[in-house]
Amino acid sequence: MLTRRHFIAGAAATFAAPAIIRAQTVFRAYPFSLGVASGDPSPDGFVIWTRLAPQPLEQHGGMAMAPMEVSWEVADDEAFRNRVAQGQAVARPELGHSIHVEVAGLQPDRPYWYRFQVPGERSIHGRARTLPLAASSPERLSFGVCGCQSYPDGYYTAHRHLAEEELAFVYHYGDYIYEYRGGPTRRGRAGELIVAVREVAGDTLYSLDDYRRRYAQYKADPDLQRAHATHAFFHSFDDHEIADNWTQDTDWDEIPPEIFRLRRAAALQAWYEHMPVRRALMPRNGEVRMHRAVRVGNLAEIDILDTRQYRSNQPCRDGFTPVCQEIEAANATILGAEQEAWLARNLQRNQARWNCLAQQIMMMSIDRNNWDDSGRVLNMDTWAAYETPRRRLLARMAGLNNVVVLTGDEHQNFAGLLHDRDRAVAVEFVATSISSGGDGSDRREGSERILASNPQIRFINDQRGYLTCDVTSDEWRTNYMVVDRVSTPGGSLSKRATLAMAHGEVALREV
Ligand SMILES: [Fe+2]
Repeated sequence: MLTRRHFIAGAAATFAAPAIIRAQTVFRAYPFSLGVASGDPSPDGFVIWTRLAPQPLEQHGGMAMAPMEVSWEVADDEAFRNRVAQGQAVARPELGHSIHVEVAGLQPDRPYWYRFQVPGERSIHGRARTLPLAASSPERLSFGVCGCQSYPDGYYTAHRHLAEEELAFVYHYGDYIYEYRGGPTRRGRAGELIVAVREVAGDTLYSLDDYRRRYAQYKADPDLQRAHATHAFFHSFDDHEIADNWTQDTDWDEIPPEIFRLRRAAALQAWYEHMPVRRALMPRNGEVRMHRAVRVGNLAEIDILDTRQYRSNQPCRDGFTPVCQEIEAANATILGAEQEAWLARNLQRNQARWNCLAQQIMMMSIDRNNWDDSGRVLNMDTWAAYETPRRRLLARMAGLNNVVVLTGDEHQNFAGLLHDRDRAVAVEFVATSISSGGDGSDRREGSERILASNPQIRFINDQRGYLTCDVTSDEWRTNYMVVDRVSTPGGSLSKRATLAMAHGEVALREV
């Protein structure tokens, strides 16, 4: 039981000011209602995360506006008989009472278990694997890829199945939340009516508290909590963590950049607060240095990219629109100069058997016109609309014959080839959504035409789910895991396809 004495004893260590702790600041409900998470694993540790929110949808998550001490522990067994690390962290109101602990000093390539405690209450326990040592030669790597989890669009059945997989970690490419207004229905971009299968609280998100509340509702989902409690995640953000199709300091509506930056700063703070990421990703002056490299022994290097924060504005008025001259703009950029140079360096060093780019938007240039013969239509929010930096990057991949690009954003599964002029230089696996877009079907209307006009695409599917990648030194296999429905709970999982690339040969075959 949590007593007033316990509470004061816990709180007193955290601040010297004569703050008044009243009896009603004691939790009225379970404070670990948002579960636990781990992320950014390294060979000697990972981040463990939680956020105190006894009443997730209420103001401040139901917390008193005071810092609170939380203890944490890490064990090398599930029963917590052998604790290998422990400590105290302060959940601060400045960070929405979230906790990020960077655990270090652990052994490489093995599972650990962690949990949090406040007086009288304990979190569920989570599991996280450390990575193998950079100098080691792992025989294989299996990891998951997921993202695009609109809460009103469907249940998180795919997360529930993801939690059953045996994986080293999961890469989440973003669209962790969607900033749209809640309600039983909403209008899509073409004015179409979209009916919610479950209702999200709140209006369109603008303030830090708005974003926090949206994360709290998403994170209260038990299937999502299960995936986080089972696997460490590497997170990146895409557009809907902030606003639809934003780039740099511009959003879809092109409001003045100095105003958009205020919203972006609030959204990025909430993103940091809710993701198990390292302190290096804490926002500074409203910006997050999110791109980072992950080494899995000498088997793979995974470069996690940020395709939003430094990108020039979408050309040709954005959206799915006919090609215009602007897509050839010489000064266009996706990654910005610094990140692009960093990625070029990593590819040039070519230190691992496989080079993997984990990122958000489709890199293949695909003609989206599946309705008439009026000409080429591009999704202006993809690499296809930024031909100069796209060609520059593909040219850097030429000759490596070990590059795999992982992508999200499309709400459809794709597999295909990337070309530098006529030469295939990399493969791209596009992961569908966890829930965004609803149930879907094997082939979306118009897919046959997309396949016919885009021979670089080898696979297309429009169901919800996630990817698992099985990597050995000789072969990269990507499994397209799909669920039969998300509109009601309990959907069943199947492996829709497996596509493989042999090391040293840029080609795809269906296994
Ligand atoms: Fe999305």
